[in-house]
Order: sequence, then C-alpha cells, then structure tokens
Amino acid sequence: MKVLLATEKPFSASAVASIKEVTDKAGYELAKLEKYTEKAQLLEAVADADAIIIRSDKVDAEVLDAAKRLKIVVRAGAGYDNVDLEAATAHGVCVMNTPGQNSNAVAELVFGMLVYGVRGMFNGATGSELMGKRLGILAFGNVGRNVARIAKGFGMEVSAYDAYCPAEAIEAAGVKAAANQAELFATCDIVSLHIPATAETRQSINYDLVNTMPKGAILVNTARKEVIDEAGLLRLMADRTDLKYLTDIKPDADADFRQFEGRYFATPKKMGAQTAEANANAGIAAANQIVGFLRDGINKFQVNK
Ligand code: 3PG
Repeated sequence: MKVLLATEKPFSASAVASIKEVTDKAGYELAKLEKYTEKAQLLEAVADADAIIIRSDKVDAEVLDAAKRLKIVVRAGAGYDNVDLEAATAHGVCVMNTPGQNSNAVAELVFGMLVYGVRGMFNGATGSELMGKRLGILAFGNVGRNVARIAKGFGMEVSAYDAYCPAEAIEAAGVKAAANQAELFATCDIVSLHIPATAETRQSINYDLVNTMPKGAILVNTARKEVIDEAGLLRLMADRTDLKYLTDIKPDADADFRQFEGRYFATPKKMGAQTAEANANAGIAAANQIVGFLRDGINKFQVNK
C-alpha cells in the first residue's frame, strides 16, 4: 500500500517522521509531496496512491480521477471544505478528518492575535486588556471549547452560540449560552469565529451582523475566509473606525483591507494549526486512521458516509 503525504504547507520534520513510523509499522510505503506549487504535481503524485494525507490541499474531481487506486483521503485537521465530498463518494473514496487534533493550537493563536490587537499592534501607545471583556464564541466545537477554556484564564466573560449545540451543553462547560447569533454579536466586545465553511455559513458574517457589535469591537477569524462577506466588512471598516478585524486567513481583498492599518491584521500564511504539537497530533491520527481503515475497515471519522 502506498500512502501519499501531500502538503502544500508541510508538517514539521518530526511529525513527518512520526507519520512514517506508523506507515512503516503497517508495512506501507510513505511518499511525500511537500511545498508543491502546481496542481499538475499533485495529479502526478496521486496516480499510484492508495491513501492520501492532506491539510488544506484541494482534492477535487480532477485529482480523484487521476488517483486510480485511491481508497481513502484523510484531511489531517478539522475542516474538510477543501475536499469535493460528492466526487469522492462517486469515486468510492472514503474521506475522513481528524477532529480535535489541532484545536488547542488554533485556540492559542486566537489569544496571540487578540493580545496583539488590544495592545495596538505593539505600536507603543496605551492599549487595553482582555480581562473583563465580553468574548463571544461562534460555534462551540473543539476549537471553540478550547477558546472558552483559555478565555477564562484571562478573566474574560465568555458566551457562545452554536446552531448545532444545545444551550445546555454550552452552559455545562461553564459558558453563557447566547440565544442566537445576533445576540452574540450585539452583546460581545470580541467575537471569535469557529464555524466551518458551508453553503449555510458562506458570507454569513456580513455588514449588518458585525455592525451590531459594541463600540471598539474586535472580530477575530481563525476559521475560514469564505464565511466573511468581504465587501460588506470592507464597507463597515470604513464606516466604523472603532472596529478591528484580525484574521488567520488572508482575505481575497487583503490589499483593500490593508488601508485600515492598525485595525486590520492578517497572518501571512494560515498559522492556527502550525505548531509541532498540532502537526504531530493530526499527522499521526491521520496515519493511524488510514491503517485502521485499510486493514480493519474502521471508518469512525468518515465525513462522506
Ligand atoms: C483545520 O481545518 O484543521 C485548520 O484550519 C488547519 O488547517 P491547515 O492544516 O491547513 O493549517
């Protein structure tokens, strides 16, 4: 069996070594395609792969057509909007993710970005503190829960809303449950986005919603750029000079957002899951899930059932 590790943004060398330990033990070959720049390279590399481990790498119908022996794709991470699930199902390919494995890393980055934001992006002027601020967490999955845990350490007032998580489950985690998304935005100084990019959430974070946030509000995005209505947010940033937008996913309109210097920050490359620990957790989980599936048919984390 041949496992291809296809990562445009590579894992750490130690995580790759750990992945290889898992595939070696199973008697599988591990091939690597890292830092590739052309889709053609991916199309060539998948030709004889039985399994693929990816990150945000795009697996569409063309890639699946080129992968004649493919049985399983594991997205080493949480969001799988980069995989064409329908095409994978049509090709008889199992798609999995590795939920929770990189969530602490993403949650920690939220606070790195927030401290940077409230301290004026380290411009030397007087900033403010996170203690006592109202933090709204949009979606209470693995990352949202870690954000809540860390926020309590900062002494923040934490609320959350999740369309798919009952209020009781949020309250059980010691977090105030907002009645709906609108209430969360209207009542929080900071909103941290943790929703996936789906047909339902695409461009859902728009002018009207963010405009309900109180004066001096901060929107922090470590989720997906697709959930933002970029044109609307650009208009709002111009209209509301008190608003800050901090994002780990550079918007398509990054050049336009850069006019809001001091109120806008985007990491040059998505950094949320880019820690040695998260790389190892997600990479090893992906390799183990491949072995479990190919050997014993275990499909616990399949997302295209
Ligand atoms: C995820 O969905 O797991 C995160 O967005 C991390 O993505 P990455 O592996 O491309 O850094």
